[in-house]
Amino acid sequence: MTAGRFYLTTPLYYVNAKPHLGHAYTTIVADCLSRARRQRGEEVFLLTGTDEHGEKIAQAASAAGLSPQAFVDQISGQFKALWNLLGVSYDHFIRTTDASHTRGVQEALKRLQAQGSLRKGTYSFWYCVPCETSWTAGDFADPAKKVCPACQRPAGEVTEEDFFLNLEAHRPWLRSHIEAHPEFIRPEQRRNEVLALLAKPLPELCLTRPKERVPWGIEVPFSASHVAYVWFDALMNYLTALDWPGGGKFQELWRQTGAIHLIGKDILRHHALYWPIILHALGEEPPRTILAHGWWLIQGEKISKSKGNIVDPQAVVETFGLDGFRYFLLREVPLGEDGVFSEGALRARLNADLANDLGNLVYRTLTMLEKHTGARVPRGGLDPSVKSEILACEKNLWAAVARMAPDQALKELWVLINQANTRIERSQPWTLARQARREELEGLLYSLAETLRAIALLLWPFLPATAESIWGQLGLTSPLAQERLPAALACPIASGNPIAKGKPLFPRLE
Ligand code: MSP
Repeated sequence: MTAGRFYLTTPLYYVNAKPHLGHAYTTIVADCLSRARRQRGEEVFLLTGTDEHGEKIAQAASAAGLSPQAFVDQISGQFKALWNLLGVSYDHFIRTTDASHTRGVQEALKRLQAQGSLRKGTYSFWYCVPCETSWTAGDFADPAKKVCPACQRPAGEVTEEDFFLNLEAHRPWLRSHIEAHPEFIRPEQRRNEVLALLAKPLPELCLTRPKERVPWGIEVPFSASHVAYVWFDALMNYLTALDWPGGGKFQELWRQTGAIHLIGKDILRHHALYWPIILHALGEEPPRTILAHGWWLIQGEKISKSKGNIVDPQAVVETFGLDGFRYFLLREVPLGEDGVFSEGALRARLNADLANDLGNLVYRTLTMLEKHTGARVPRGGLDPSVKSEILACEKNLWAAVARMAPDQALKELWVLINQANTRIERSQPWTLARQARREELEGLLYSLAETLRAIALLLWPFLPATAESIWGQLGLTSPLAQERLPAALACPIASGNPIAKGKPLFPRLE
């Protein structure tokens, strides 16, 4: 990867229903990693969007009494509105109904056809409509019962004439690519799953659907009676968003930088098997990394519309605040593992980490500054031991961000927060004040103010609004998003700066 550039994608979410907590999770993780990179001065392109074609969506539109286009416009708008509410700093929002995307998908099909990569044939398979996934007999756990391996619902048999891509021809290449690039599929467990799939021959991948059965899709340029398979259509977004095949953005971000696809583990097969092979067939490089995170569960079940257990992100934000929600998602589980969502867990996490550790530190530091130094930053310099704590925290936090481990990055930041809290307990500023030990008191408060400034800087990618609030309470007016450590330490906070204490950041939740 070219140093200083970062191309990160989220899945394109289906617009068959409004967004839920699972979608918000992937997108918030992507936002956080992107903000952290931008803050380091890297050029970031964060891509998200909506997957708008296919049977499932046409069915949802008709159930809503709308035309497919009117329906997808409406739901896609809800995703956009939610990302705005959640503070997601995406650089481009692609829709698979965009004209430029359609052109790119058709170009890819044309190329595959022209080079003889597609076979027209009659095919029988089992199709799971809710998952938009076709299965072969060998995929079923019990060959007598054709139950979708992904969602456990019955799959229906279909016979039709379609165009197929030979996956098997690319299997040896994909295996050796995965073996040679440990960073390609993460985490390790997912990499092993894909290698296991590659241990046996791969069936062909059907890249089209008869228009008669699935009218809502991108027309195949060389066969007016077919549309593109919705997964082929959707995966192509990672290229068409960069104006593939010709665009300069494509050169820069796909060829020179390398894409990082952040996905949920439910769509690993599509991203780690089909997608690299499609790219290989098109003569393009595979993405740099496919990072599959785990699922949010409720009572042991994946949160999903079809299970009827969805959690509305907007409602969580209304109750717990945006930064409370972001903090819980980013901190509660290591990226890659499943997490259990419950209001009790959320409340416990927010009380312990945000109300107690961070909120108290900010509130009591500002209270002491008000009381003992006239609501101004006192005279003083940064204590060298505090400085090394800040520098160590920055280093460890960045290393965790670079590993794409936001939970660990936050743990590192909490080391610094707790060091500051411990320092207050140990130095007993109230005693220093009572005994009129001014210089010691001012030195302590100065270092605490500097620590809060560092905390605001390091916290910003995770909880932007909270970071801005701490920044403002310290009387700082420069644009926070453009400052970074360790450079910021070279321009210390000015003595005499007026502070503006606010309300406690995170009141305790009962
Ligand atoms: N449209 C396809 C993806 C095409 S990408 C080229 C799709 N869409 S989806 O709306 O079903 O979204 C799937 C993604 O939403 C998952 O991969 C994951 O990122 C997120 N999540 C949906 N439910 C989730 C949980 N319960 N937990 C965590 N994330 C989950 O698949």
